Amino acid sequence: MTNLKLSVTQKIPAFKAGQVLVLGVTTEAGKLQLREHSIDASTLVGLDLASLGVSSKQEALVRIPGPNGAVFALLGTGTDELDEDSLRELGASAARQLNAAREIVFDLPTDDERDAVSILEGAMLGVHRYSSAFSKSAKKEVLAAVTVLSEHKVSGGQIQRSRILARAVGRVRDLVNTPPNLLFPKSFAEIVSAESKDFDVKVTVLDEKALKTEKFGGILAVGQGSSRPPRLVKIEYKPKKAKKHLALVGKGITFDTGGISIKPAASMVGMKYDMTGAATVYQAILAIAALELPIQVTSYLCLAENMPSGTAIRPNDVITIRNGKTVEVLNTDAEGRLVLADGLSAASEEQPNLIVDVATLTGAARVALGDRYSALMGTADAVSELEAAAFDSGELVWHMPLPVELRSRLDSDVADIANAKIGSTAGGMLLAGVFLKEFIGSSKKTGKMIPWAHLDIAGTANNESAAYGYTPKGATGVALRTLVSVAEGMSR
Ligand code: BES
Ligand code: ZN
Ligand code: ZN
Repeated sequence: MTNLKLSVTQKIPAFKAGQVLVLGVTTEAGKLQLREHSIDASTLVGLDLASLGVSSKQEALVRIPGPNGAVFALLGTGTDELDEDSLRELGASAARQLNAAREIVFDLPTDDERDAVSILEGAMLGVHRYSSAFSKSAKKEVLAAVTVLSEHKVSGGQIQRSRILARAVGRVRDLVNTPPNLLFPKSFAEIVSAESKDFDVKVTVLDEKALKTEKFGGILAVGQGSSRPPRLVKIEYKPKKAKKHLALVGKGITFDTGGISIKPAASMVGMKYDMTGAATVYQAILAIAALELPIQVTSYLCLAENMPSGTAIRPNDVITIRNGKTVEVLNTDAEGRLVLADGLSAASEEQPNLIVDVATLTGAARVALGDRYSALMGTADAVSELEAAAFDSGELVWHMPLPVELRSRLDSDVADIANAKIGSTAGGMLLAGVFLKEFIGSSKKTGKMIPWAHLDIAGTANNESAAYGYTPKGATGVALRTLVSVAEGMSR
């Protein structure tokens, strides 16, 4: 993808073999119509499109031979007006389906330069494939160029931004799709150290010994049942011009068996996705560094493997988190909040202007919001900031409450707080948020809680059904573009 030639131009290319020209299809007054376009599509005139299977249904795609060996791809675009988000989805869908094309030319209506660049961004998000572990290696990518026809001028910087974002989303997907026998805390930390060398960031890895001296009791407790010890990876980006500081904290459970409170077989499948939060805050800071945004960012990757064993934490164990608070572990499967408690405490110590954590935290998130909306909780100011950034990126979030009255459900007889309410699933996602809130420090300047937002992406991190728009099957890479947009907002 890094070699993909990307351009936005007004110049209509000559028809040639290997080239696929994407035209939009809509329905007007009950009749199939091509959307506004600029290339010469006269060879299509007179064809009975409906009988060729052409449809205006979103993402439907029919190929029709064009002049000089070129191919027309007639892409269903629905009947609504096309905006930035729908163009991103259409760009991705066409790129995914046209996997034998050497060059894709998009000839869709664009109202401004953001529309034009969205098509390119979508195409890049759509062509990404995880080079999987099948013994027969996948077909080589043949796509060499994506061209968007538009009268709106797009700067090289805008195209470069989309390229950086798409690369980062692709890297998140690759890391998350990696099987858990190959990705574990130590190997994850090594990947971070190696890849980060090409970026203007500093990486510090705390191994199990350092975690002990530094009192990261949550990460250590969750990791103690595995033969593969836990890690905390801290990544810092600190450009000279920075005025604000953003802290990102990610749940990085490389596999979640549930521990001694073990999950049933069917619920355990997919738990390699439980490190998505860490992968997301990792790639977000690299993208922010690549974009050279004038903002200080610190990412904390809380990495552990949650396994049952003779050394694993038990229900009723009491552990001490980095900020000194004690937690009675009533359910070892509520492990994400334990590692995040350490990460949020450490982030708070640095007094950032905003803390955002990202986690596949609760099955309840999927029950409440399904698999397209990420749950957003936190302080009012931070929630508005995240809502705006998500909207700007075309990602879907939904604001959920942190009801104070839930706090008493986590009262413990022996410790400051329990990590779960046994025998009740009511408001499970909210209860997890209420737990996390206990580990956000207060601002020395205002005396109030540091602005904090929590994204529960348990429903959205993994797409179990077929690909749609720019969302592939499997790891989605959700929330990354929202985080970068938050950093952009704070840089202004
Ligand atoms: N990793 C899971 C949450 C999860 C579930 C993510 C399904 C993606 C899909 C988390 O660690 C967990 O097991 N949470 C428990 C919490 C409960 C024990 C309080 C849950 O959701 O059941
Ligand atoms: Zn769990
Ligand atoms: Zn988990």
